[in-house]
Amino acid sequence: MDKLLITGGKQLTGTLTVSGAKNAALPILAATLLSDKPVLIGNIPHLHDITTTLELLGCMGVELSVDEKLNIEVNSSTITKLEAPYELVRTMRSSILVLGPLLARFGQADVSLPGGCAIGARPVDIHLIGLEKMGADIKVENGYIHAKAKRLKGCSLILDQVTVTGTENLLMAATLAEGKTIIENAAREPEVSDLANFLNKMGAKISGIGTDVLEIEGVERLGVEDLHYNVLPDRIEAGTYLVAAAMTRGKIRLNKIQPKLLDAVLDKLSEAGAKITCGKDWIELDMHGKRPKAVSIRTAPFPAFPTDMQAQFTAMNSIAKGVSTITETVFENRFMHVQEMQRMGANIKLESNTAICTGVKNLTAAPVMATDLRASASLVLSGLAAEGETLVDRIYHIDRGYDHIEEKLSQLGATIRRIPR
Ligand code: UD1
Repeated sequence: MDKLLITGGKQLTGTLTVSGAKNAALPILAATLLSDKPVLIGNIPHLHDITTTLELLGCMGVELSVDEKLNIEVNSSTITKLEAPYELVRTMRSSILVLGPLLARFGQADVSLPGGCAIGARPVDIHLIGLEKMGADIKVENGYIHAKAKRLKGCSLILDQVTVTGTENLLMAATLAEGKTIIENAAREPEVSDLANFLNKMGAKISGIGTDVLEIEGVERLGVEDLHYNVLPDRIEAGTYLVAAAMTRGKIRLNKIQPKLLDAVLDKLSEAGAKITCGKDWIELDMHGKRPKAVSIRTAPFPAFPTDMQAQFTAMNSIAKGVSTITETVFENRFMHVQEMQRMGANIKLESNTAICTGVKNLTAAPVMATDLRASASLVLSGLAAEGETLVDRIYHIDRGYDHIEEKLSQLGATIRRIPR
C-alpha cells in the first residue's frame, strides 16, 4: 500500500484549481443508465471511486470512451447485464446508486447490499422503502438486493431521515415512473441539485431543485442528442485545502469553485481568524501568519456544516488557540482520526458524539493510519502542521476522493511525497 511522507512546518501559499465533485460525478455517471443516448460528461475528477464506477458500468456492458480533454462519453444503449457485483460494491458503497436507474429503465436490478463501513452502519433501508412504495418488488437474499418492477409508479414519499444517496436513488427512479412523485425531507446537498439539473438536461421534469421537496413528473424516456454536462466543483476538496492553508498560517487562492457552496465552512474559517475574499468563481484565504482560533462545530445536512469537513476541522482545532467542541450528528462513528491525532500530541477527549479539543501549540510527527477518506485527509493536514516527518499509511482511502493530493499540496509549497509500496 502506498504511503505519504510529509515534512511539516511549511506555510502553504499559492493557487490551485479545484477538481470536479466526486459526490456529484458518481450519481451523474449512474444516471447515464437512464438513457439510451450517449452523454458526454466533463470536469470528472481523477479518482479511484470514479475508476470503480466506470468499471461497474463497463461490466454491465456500457460503452465508455475518453476524449483528449478527459471528458467521458457514456453510451448505455449497449447494456447487457443488470447487476452490481459484490466485488465492486464492497469497495465503494455508492455503487448502490445504480439500483434506481436500472430498475426504472429495465424493470430489474440485482445489486449487492453494501456492508457496514468504517464511519458507521450506513443502512439503505430508506432507498428500498421508497422504491417499494413506487411499486417495486424487492427481496434481499444472499447479500444481494433483487428488485423487479413493471413500470414504477409515482407516489408521495416522506424520507425518515435526510439521506444524500437515498434522495438521489429515488429521484433517478422517479424520472421514468408513471405519474408524479413528491420526495419530502429530500437532501438539499449541492450534489443532489447537480444531479437533478443533469437529469432535467436529459429531459426529466424535476422541480423544487435545491429545496427539501422535490417534485418529479415521470416521462416515458430520457435522452437528448449531443448532451455535454460539466460536473460541479468539489466543495469538500476546496474546504480541505482551505483548512490546510489555515493550519499552516498561509495564504492561498482556489480557482474554479463556487463560494456559495462553502458558506458554512467559510463562516467557520473566518471565525478562526482567516481573511476570506471571494469572487464569482474563486476564494482566497489569508491567515496573515497567525495561529487559527478554536471554533466549535456541529455537523448536519446541507446547508449546515458538512460531516465531510468534520475531520479536517478537528485537525485545525487540535493546533488552534483555545477550546472547541466538535459534535457529529450525521454518522455514529466518525471520530477515528482522533486516536491518531492523539498519537501526534493532540489534546482531544471524546464524549459520545462530541470531541472536546484543547488546542496545543504544536503537533509532533508520528506514523499514522486512517480508516476512511476524510479521516485520512485530516491526518495529512495534521502532518503539514506538525514538527518533523509524518508517515500516513493506507492512503488508498485518500486516492478514493482526492485528485492528485500530493501534487496539489506540493504546488502550494508543502513537502510531501508518495512512497510506493
Ligand atoms: C453521502 C456522501 C458522503 C457524505 C454523506 C453525508 C456520496 C457518494 N457520499 O453519503 O460523502 O458524508 O452523504 O453528507 O454522496 N441512513 C439511513 N438509511 C438509509 C440511508 C441513510 O439510516 O437508507 C442514515 C445513514 O446511516 C447516516 C445518515 O442517514 O446516518 C446520512 O447518510 P447519507 O446521507 O445516506 O450518506 P450517503 O448518501 O451514504
